[in-house]
Amino acid sequence: TMENTLPLDNPSLSRRQLLNFLTGAAVAATAGSALYPVSKYFIGPDESGEGGAILAKDILGNPIPASQILAEVPGSRALVAGLAGEPTYLTVLENSSLNPIGIVDNCTHLGCTFPWNPVDQEFQCPCHGSRYSADGSVLRGPAPLPLKLVHVAIKENRIWLSPWTELDPRTEAKPWWV
Ligand code: FES
Repeated sequence: TMENTLPLDNPSLSRRQLLNFLTGAAVAATAGSALYPVSKYFIGPDESGEGGAILAKDILGNPIPASQILAEVPGSRALVAGLAGEPTYLTVLENSSLNPIGIVDNCTHLGCTFPWNPVDQEFQCPCHGSRYSADGSVLRGPAPLPLKLVHVAIKENRIWLSPWTELDPRTEAKPWWV
């Protein structure tokens, strides 16, 4: 339902989303554009790794320890500040490892951010009702394209995100974002 959605013109919602790493319960939506000025703050000039990799960070710009994410229950989604400041979902797998595929929280329809619905096991965009499966494939429009992916890797308790430029494993085709 749309009952839980909050006003879409409140830029503080995106901050709140990032503060709540786990978004299974806290649900809010905001336009992607509202997040951008906040997000740019995360990206420092000296914090890039090989292949365009960056550290996953929290709202304050602090790297998030992998152990913090992995301590959450399997199936949890954690929202972090990712590449180019894009909010990105990380997934704790059933074996308590981190899914090496991250999903960018940016609806391919008009760029809203969206929550994970743990009951339906879907990402559900509150703006116009698009739904995506756990891997970011479109289940229901108006979203025209699957969600953007990023690589996720852990090194020394830090979480590195890097651009996904290979074939999209969902479509076996070149990704739309490359
Ligand atoms: Fe997500 Fe329109 S922006 S459905």
